[in-house]
Amino acid sequence: MAVILDGKALALEIRAQIKTTVGKLVEKYHVVPHLAVILIGEDPASQSYVKGKEAACQKAGIKSTVIQKPVTISEAELLTIIAELNADTAVHGILLQLPIPKHLDPDKIIALIDKHKDVDGFTPENVAALTNGRPRLVPCTPLGIIKLLKKYEIPIAGKHCVIIGRSTIVGKPMAALLLKENGTITICHTKTTNLPAITNQADILVVATGQPKMINGTHVKDGAVVIDVGISKIDGVICGDVDYESVYPKSAFITPVPGGVGPLTIACLLENCIKCYQTFMEGNHD
Ligand SMILES: NC(=O)c1ccc[n+]([C@@H]2O[C@H](COP(=O)([O-])OP(=O)(O)OC[C@H]3O[C@@H](n4cnc5c(N)ncnc54)[C@H](OP(=O)(O)O)[C@@H]3O)[C@@H](O)[C@H]2O)c1
Repeated sequence: MAVILDGKALALEIRAQIKTTVGKLVEKYHVVPHLAVILIGEDPASQSYVKGKEAACQKAGIKSTVIQKPVTISEAELLTIIAELNADTAVHGILLQLPIPKHLDPDKIIALIDKHKDVDGFTPENVAALTNGRPRLVPCTPLGIIKLLKKYEIPIAGKHCVIIGRSTIVGKPMAALLLKENGTITICHTKTTNLPAITNQADILVVATGQPKMINGTHVKDGAVVIDVGISKIDGVICGDVDYESVYPKSAFITPVPGGVGPLTIACLLENCIKCYQTFMEGNHD
């Protein structure tokens, strides 16, 4: 019988701690932490994610401001907004909700976000810090997964960690964080041949492909730890990249979807936001 990794419960725990920390910090500095979110266009999924982030901020005592812009926004206008937010001493964190319209280059735009306000950990400086094994602001989803593994005292050192997916949001930073914990890392993607042969070697399997239920019981060895990052909808029902019914009986630990990785992403966003705020308040800029 697998142990279900309860990301929802851990996220609530982290969020309660953050709320307490925010209360103490506001008492000390008399300044409320402030996250600015840039939302471009009318994509319902992005709007819903932003609403969730706003609500989480509010519950934690963090001010959030959403800067909503039309899908036709020019690169110049967006860059001006980011420059203003970088310069605004009342804003401690900046989040650009992805994806952004195709006429805008996300790499170019993200690179201009102040690395000290980069709550997503996507700027080149923060990516380099993570790659060099000295993480500062780390992407929220893989950070949450490490917290979940630690909460359940799942050893990582020496374990074969197989990650399916190599996105800059999940797969690559996941690899860097597991490597930092002394895991042995394999990254798989669409050009990987004989995927099941590799996934069957995994002690820890992280699946982040966006392909609903692509991993089933035949892909997983007995006693594996299975982390499902995927969020898809089939016939209106949310499901992950893992076929839970067939993988659950073989695994030792498994995340559900929903209620696994997702809630931790938001909790880690709040944590990163407070990290940015503290860095600013303590004047620890380098
Ligand atoms: N729970 C959360 O908080 C959270 C956070 C972020 C993302 N997500 C979800 O996680 C999933 C992945 O997100 P993402 O942003 O990383 O997606 P992405 O940017 O589309 O990347 C998907 C990755 O999976 C690989 N892939 C796709 N199909 C594959 C296959 N059949 N076999 C092997 N590799 C395959 C792709 O390989 P190539 O590089 O070769 O194309 C790519 O590297 C999505 O469902 C997303 O909604 C959830």
